[in-house]
Amino acid sequence: MASSEFLFLLLLLLHHSPFSTANLHKIHHLRPEILTQQTPIEDDPPPTQYFQVTKPIELPNTKPCSHLILQHDFGYTYGKSPVLAAYSPPSHCSSGKYSKIVLQWKATCKGRQFDRIFGVWLGGVELLRSCTAEPRATGIVWSVEKDITRYYPLLLKNQTFSVYLGNLVDKTYTGVYHVNVSIYFYPAEVDSKNNYVQNHDDLVTGYNSWADLIVPISRKLPLNDGLWFEIENSKDTALKEFKIPKNVYRAVLEVYVSFHENDEFWCTNPSNEYIAANNLSGTPGNGPFREVVVSLDGEVVGAIWPFTVIYTGGVNPLLWRPITGIGSFDLPSYDIDITPFLGKLLDGKIHNIGFSVTNALNVWYIDANLHLWLDKQSEKTEGKLLKETSLPLVVSVEYKFNGLDGTFSTSVGRSILSTGWVKSSYGNITTHSVQDFFYSNSMVMGNNGEMQIVNQTIYFNDSVSAKLPSSNVYSLSSSKRFSIYLYSNYMSQGNGTDLSIANVTLGFNEELSKDAGFGFSKTSLDNLQNGQGYMVVKDNLVSSGLGSTQQVYSYIGAKSCYFRNVSSSNYTIISDEVGNTCQKRTESRMGFWFSKSWPFPSRKAFLTSEFLDKSKGV
Ligand SMILES: *[C@@H]1O[C@H](CO)[C@@H](O)[C@H](O)[C@H]1NC(C)=O
Ligand SMILES: *[C@@H]1O[C@H](CO)[C@@H](O)[C@H](O)[C@H]1NC(C)=O
Ligand SMILES: *[C@@H]1O[C@H](CO)[C@@H](O)[C@H](O)[C@H]1NC(C)=O
Ligand SMILES: *[C@@H]1O[C@H](CO)[C@@H](O)[C@H](O)[C@H]1NC(C)=O
Ligand SMILES: *[C@@H]1O[C@H](CO)[C@@H](O)[C@H](O)[C@H]1NC(C)=O
Ligand SMILES: *[C@@H]1O[C@H](CO)[C@@H](O)[C@H](O)[C@H]1NC(C)=O
Ligand SMILES: *[C@@H]1O[C@H](CO)[C@@H](O)[C@H](O)[C@H]1NC(C)=O
Ligand SMILES: *[C@@H]1O[C@H](CO)[C@@H](O)[C@H](O)[C@H]1NC(C)=O
Ligand SMILES: *[C@@H]1O[C@H](CO)[C@@H](O)[C@H](O)[C@H]1NC(C)=O
Ligand SMILES: *[C@@H]1O[C@H](CO)[C@@H](O)[C@H](O)[C@H]1NC(C)=O
Repeated sequence: MASSEFLFLLLLLLHHSPFSTANLHKIHHLRPEILTQQTPIEDDPPPTQYFQVTKPIELPNTKPCSHLILQHDFGYTYGKSPVLAAYSPPSHCSSGKYSKIVLQWKATCKGRQFDRIFGVWLGGVELLRSCTAEPRATGIVWSVEKDITRYYPLLLKNQTFSVYLGNLVDKTYTGVYHVNVSIYFYPAEVDSKNNYVQNHDDLVTGYNSWADLIVPISRKLPLNDGLWFEIENSKDTALKEFKIPKNVYRAVLEVYVSFHENDEFWCTNPSNEYIAANNLSGTPGNGPFREVVVSLDGEVVGAIWPFTVIYTGGVNPLLWRPITGIGSFDLPSYDIDITPFLGKLLDGKIHNIGFSVTNALNVWYIDANLHLWLDKQSEKTEGKLLKETSLPLVVSVEYKFNGLDGTFSTSVGRSILSTGWVKSSYGNITTHSVQDFFYSNSMVMGNNGEMQIVNQTIYFNDSVSAKLPSSNVYSLSSSKRFSIYLYSNYMSQGNGTDLSIANVTLGFNEELSKDAGFGFSKTSLDNLQNGQGYMVVKDNLVSSGLGSTQQVYSYIGAKSCYFRNVSSSNYTIISDEVGNTCQKRTESRMGFWFSKSWPFPSRKAFLTSEFLDKSKGV
């Protein structure tokens, strides 16, 4: 006789002034934790399986060797040392040569708990940034599989494996995360002559998809936190010193980013003018634009305009059960090709990489992995930076407001270019790296500041081309579009009851082309999520709530395709269509499907609300 009633607790952490506008932009403060009632369950129902929609990893036709790296129960881990394990490469895998390596994070949890950000590192190199799913009384289970083949050289050596997941457990928040982390090694396929089958990810000899050495650009253990750097404000710069061998011919910096607390919903932050004019306190500001800037010895080498990941407790937690938000279980990392700058780094001396975030409020967790390709034919390569252009941001802001209502539009553009040559045994290769960005955000405030509509799009293009004097070596070109549309409204129902409504559309699109001299390949990904949710709040008690989510994922690759159209409502999958044929699809943009029948609050449950700052805990 399990009770299906929900208990919502919104923890009040950011202390609101007893201001009449205390309800303003609740999206920032509302960290609604759906707390399932802790009634004893007589017939133990199976745990609910949560998942992130993504294409399956392409695997070779070989039997993997599995390697359990860590089994741990994350109870009260907040502010404690990351959980460590000694890693050694598998010895029981006969072949010793792998064509695919997959990390699996598998976890269960039962009870009440917040979404927790976590990181997984091997030898200080980050392998996975993720967010936990929020449990229910009847238990949940989820797993994340990530292709970690690009970390190959690291996986062949003994290392310290570490996981930081800052969880808090007490009488109310009972959820302990039971986690197994395993790595699956898929031996390379051999042909009839017993030769290894060429990995189709290889670009050209010497430019294959994994590096020879990966240098961590993260904090060193011991720590009572993650190995990431913490950026607290717009003036903060995190610096990390490093040194590289003298025979590097290619360098790619892979950056991991996540945003929390006052910047968790940075795309909804109003301008400081608006905050000042309305005497608001406790409303995170600095406007809705953020940019992660990466520098090398103080000079800008690249930027990241991040995808707006919504964590599993964000906006309305009921939206993300069981279909989690795009990227929330496997946050995207971003590559910046810094090969043009190698000329400056090949001197065997110490250099530094810096991270800062334009307009940042607390807190951003950032670190990076420096992937280096070494020239095995020579002890020394040489190079020179020929050109470097980092144009300043072009920002245009327009706004009009009267009291708490108004319209705001922000657009920003930027280009970062670099060209440099490196002479190695592959020849004198000139690399040209370009990043082009465009951002637009339109924000509407209405209903005396209780209603907010944000419509934001980021266009993030990067391309790299490497040329010998007389021929092309390879080129990569990625064109990304990150979109978010967020409608939220709080309506007083009288009697101290508020109805909170939030609709969200989240889009992650990427077109990628590779040209490696002998072949051209193109892939495209369209990933779009729509969600509609409501919560009825009375005296901080949420008396009912519902979340419905629809997602269409469409990947078209050179050799394979994947399509999924799935929708859920109130924890239940309503429709699910999966396809993996490469026929051309007529992509209709997804609308709000349930507009006619979208149910408004009808049932009662006993729910309480509190506010919680999720990453810092209580
Ligand atoms: C972790 O592995 C142990 C031992 O194989 C197993 O009993 C447990 O159920 C696993 N837990 C998860 C979350 O997969
Ligand atoms: C790696 O770790 C294994 C297991 O602890 C140990 O037997 C081996 O000697 C280590 N290898 C090196 C090179 O340290
Ligand atoms: C903000 O505070 C100032 C000074 O206390 C006051 O003059 C002004 O009327 C206030 N504005 C609003 C919108 O409350
Ligand atoms: C490599 O090529 C660049 C551009 O063509 C040229 O400026 C440079 O001198 C060459 N370097 C060497 C060592 O030949
Ligand atoms: C990014 O590339 C796309 C497709 O090539 C192009 O339409 C768009 O204008 C580019 N955006 C920027 C900011 O350069
Ligand atoms: C969001 O803005 C884009 C232009 O940037 C526009 O094409 C789109 O229709 C807007 N979406 C909504 C739902 O208003
Ligand atoms: C206000 O609450 C009381 C008691 O819960 C209820 O009887 C009454 O109908 C409510 N009024 C409104 C307008 O919701
Ligand atoms: C996805 O499924 C829904 C419901 O079955 C359907 O209405 C919609 O047209 C589908 N969308 C696509 C792109 O196939
Ligand atoms: C959600 O499903 C539960 C049963 O699992 C049901 O009791 C509840 O009324 C549903 N909520 C809504 C709003 O339909
Ligand atoms: C929010 O979604 C619901 C359900 O699809 C729809 O009825 C409503 O019009 C949406 N509101 C906005 C402002 O997009």
